[in-house]
Amino acid sequence: MSMANKPVVAIGSDHAGREIRKICFQRLNDQGYETIDLGVGDEIVSADYPKIAFELSKLITSGAAKFGVLVCGTGVGMAMAANRFKGVRAVNCLSEFMARMSRAHNDANVLTLGQRIVGPGLALSILDEFLASDFEGGRHLNRVKMLN
Ligand code: RB5
Repeated sequence: MSMANKPVVAIGSDHAGREIRKICFQRLNDQGYETIDLGVGDEIVSADYPKIAFELSKLITSGAAKFGVLVCGTGVGMAMAANRFKGVRAVNCLSEFMARMSRAHNDANVLTLGQRIVGPGLALSILDEFLASDFEGGRHLNRVKMLN
């Protein structure tokens, strides 16, 4: 993918996902993605993950961002919250294989990560795989349409 064609990626976290969010944000910028950082900022001691997930999901459904990355302690709450939005397909990935297959077969558009589950190296590797992988379409397209 050329730099000119890089999509907008929105990113957000609660307090428990802040460190992984920061390194993912840096990675996205280093790779030339246009980014929208929703925080939360360092001054926030405790944040409600649904609020951040809802804010990011609105960017996806409006088309302001093509992909999203959400980080909390486990990645679970963020995925639950984001998937309440029609058109958002959020997946909590623990491996590069999950990241690749969620793009290839499920056209996932939001990656969630758990800072208490994955370390920084694996998180970046999952992020890279997620964004480098394409939806295969074909028989998977009808199945994805059924989700709506
Ligand atoms: C915060 O303690 C934690 O509950 C949250 O980050 C997340 O893991 C929820 O799913």
